[in-house]
Amino acid sequence: MTESALPGLLPDLEVVRKDFPILSRTLAGGHPLVYLDSANTSQKPQVVIDAMVDHLERHNANVARAMHQLGAESTAAFESARARVASFLHAGEDEIVFTKNASEALNLVANTLAWAEGDWSARVGRIGPGDEIVITEMEHHSNIVPWQLLSQRTGATLRWFGITDDGQLDLDNIDDLIAERTRVVALTWVSNALGTVNPITEIARRAHEVGALVVVDASQAAPQLPINVTTCGADLLAFTGHKTVGPTGIGVLWGRRGILDQLPPFLAGGEMIETVRMESSTYAPVPRRFEAGTPPIVEAVGLAAALEYLDGLGMEHVHAHEQAITGYALDGLASVPGLTVLGPLSAEQRGGAIAFELDGVHPHDVATVLDTRGIAVRAGHHCARPAHARFGVQASTRMSSYLYTTPEEVDALVDGLLYTRDYFKVS
Ligand code: ALA
Repeated sequence: MTESALPGLLPDLEVVRKDFPILSRTLAGGHPLVYLDSANTSQKPQVVIDAMVDHLERHNANVARAMHQLGAESTAAFESARARVASFLHAGEDEIVFTKNASEALNLVANTLAWAEGDWSARVGRIGPGDEIVITEMEHHSNIVPWQLLSQRTGATLRWFGITDDGQLDLDNIDDLIAERTRVVALTWVSNALGTVNPITEIARRAHEVGALVVVDASQAAPQLPINVTTCGADLLAFTGHKTVGPTGIGVLWGRRGILDQLPPFLAGGEMIETVRMESSTYAPVPRRFEAGTPPIVEAVGLAAALEYLDGLGMEHVHAHEQAITGYALDGLASVPGLTVLGPLSAEQRGGAIAFELDGVHPHDVATVLDTRGIAVRAGHHCARPAHARFGVQASTRMSSYLYTTPEEVDALVDGLLYTRDYFKVS
């Protein structure tokens, strides 16, 4: 397959690939790296690496509490990273909270809802007995366990959308599931296990009819979809830096200002306060109220460079590239005997993560054999055990593409899977 034969690929893909130094690596056995594990973590372009090195070499200092020139430079870099994230999401700067990852962002919301004041008349209150929280069966564990803990600790009831046989959310019972007692609807925009792109705006519409908060896990959406928080329906939205060509160690919680304002502190410590007396303290306004301690400074600088890189390519083009590669991969995988894809079978309904089973070969063995050919995929439950249980499997192999993935890499995967079948003498 040549690039020109596959509409939708990023133009100058080979030039784009050169932005990512790791992609020119050769692995053991002389195999060029075929990196198909981007839903796990994405690779980083040189501009991100350079921005972080430059910050550490020239501007390193703590933020908001260092009264010297470097402190001012570091604070300016950190706050301009906040502005960059805000522009990536079409949000206000004071609506962006830096966390260490998406899990922390989701935990922040779930925990503070156990302590919030108010009676839900202003759309935020304290979760208590009789309240209902609605999630889905296709969530990453990060968007299941915090809500389980919240329910167990408050006496609330956890409910969830099931999954249809073709890997979509089963919305048949939406009006029963999201009802008068529903306080929170928390769901992923794009499933990391099934690839499904969920109709979050439609679900949010129903949630808002009953006055519920909508919390969106955008960990897999932010890398590949244009996001506009003013129209998508979310009230709070989380994503992580390292899947959006940025560094590990930084995540983002976006929330409508009026909602963040009503949430009490989560972690406590330096810089999240207004005053501290021995008896009690008062707290800083958002977003600082949620950023206790020294924040991830160089990581914020790296994330800003990453989002600038993505905006430079254009998220609509990144999305088109993912769609083209995903369609091509679905066709290629369909040619492998005994292979079953989990989740939707059309590219339009999915993101770039494709989990599959290969009859007669354990997913860990599939990944190990592919690795001997330089092909990196993920095997296991991908932190989405309920989604796997729904399809009666414990684990799967998952390929996940990104803006640098080529059709030739998909061909290498398909060849590798045919080789794996031969290797294990699967008939
Ligand atoms: N890192 C996790 C994955 O691989 C979320 O999907």
